[in-house]
Amino acid sequence: MMITAPTDVRRITCVGAGVIGGGWVAHFLARGYDVTAWDPAEDAEEKLRRLVDAAWPALTQLGLAEGASRERLTVVGTLEEACAEAQFVQESAPEKLELKRSLLAQLDAATPAGVVIASSTSGYPMTDMQTEAVTPGRLLVGHPFNPPYLIPLVEVVGGEATDEAAVAWASEFYEVAGKSVITMERELPGFIANRLQEALWREALHMVANGEATVKEIDDSITEGPGLRWAFMGPCLTFALAGGEGGMGHMLDHFGPSLKSPWTRLEAPELDKALRDAMVDGCDEAAGDRTIADLVAERDQGVIDVLRATGRLPGQREGGQ
Ligand SMILES: NC(=O)c1ccc[n+]([C@@H]2O[C@H](COP(=O)([O-])OP(=O)(O)OC[C@H]3O[C@@H](n4cnc5c(N)ncnc54)[C@H](O)[C@@H]3O)[C@@H](O)[C@H]2O)c1
Repeated sequence: MMITAPTDVRRITCVGAGVIGGGWVAHFLARGYDVTAWDPAEDAEEKLRRLVDAAWPALTQLGLAEGASRERLTVVGTLEEACAEAQFVQESAPEKLELKRSLLAQLDAATPAGVVIASSTSGYPMTDMQTEAVTPGRLLVGHPFNPPYLIPLVEVVGGEATDEAAVAWASEFYEVAGKSVITMERELPGFIANRLQEALWREALHMVANGEATVKEIDDSITEGPGLRWAFMGPCLTFALAGGEGGMGHMLDHFGPSLKSPWTRLEAPELDKALRDAMVDGCDEAAGDRTIADLVAERDQGVIDVLRATGRLPGQREGGQ
């Protein structure tokens, strides 16, 4: 049913070219694809090229695919032009359900039959987004993490009307394109990682709202603490080690009862002006003299260093470096 094999894809279309769409563009260019982008914002092309330029040193450090070039990016003026010759489409428009519904229907109408269209949505189930499309079988979620050009994970999941073959095609395609894929059997709002991130995030907001911890203390508590473990061993296995030689069994018997303690408030706090100001001011203070561009460069280098230190750079994974 799919017209191009995952290994034969050469031309990718990215629709929506903000933080995530631009990150996808940078990733696909670095992997040697021809990329066509469309974004309705007036200054979109300039911003996109700036983002790609900022990402390029990190991507060069990781190792560009043969023939990879920023010159293989074409920015076009209409959605139809963007999709006409696409062999794969990645949608990264704003996270608004109505917008996603009608945009995905437009993309479906403009893209050659049999070409898979993936949405970067952070949490909407595809079942809720594919309702207006004429051929919803090729629509699915391909959820990346910021920045998509450095964080390997993509969560792939279809909706009720998605063909299983499209999900299998997309999972294989992303792997070929250098990503690490979790193919989910069933839909779940927020998928896997964002459900976990969100639990932590709600608690962080509550602590700031109640004056229980500062933005800096919250960030330090993760980067100087559990975050170091999570870069290479997930929360379940690291907790198994918290049970010593007794492993997860002892850990659950020992600490299970305290799960009932009121340690967390899973309902989100009200995002009122005071909390918004406290978060923004706290982040400004934590950033100090560093601009957003400085922080992006720092984060990119940090991710590369962690990947290298844990043997997960592309060349290391293949045993080549
Ligand atoms: N920011 C993240 O960390 C992150 C992570 C994973 C997934 N996502 C998801 O990626 C998507 C994009 O988020 P973002 O953070 O890049 O947002 P963003 O605001 O940085 O970018 C959105 C872009 O979409 C463009 N746009 C507006 N209307 C459009 C339309 N009708 N068609 C096409 N493009 C349109 C805007 O001009 C803008 O450039 C969302 O679905 C979001 O949930 C975000």
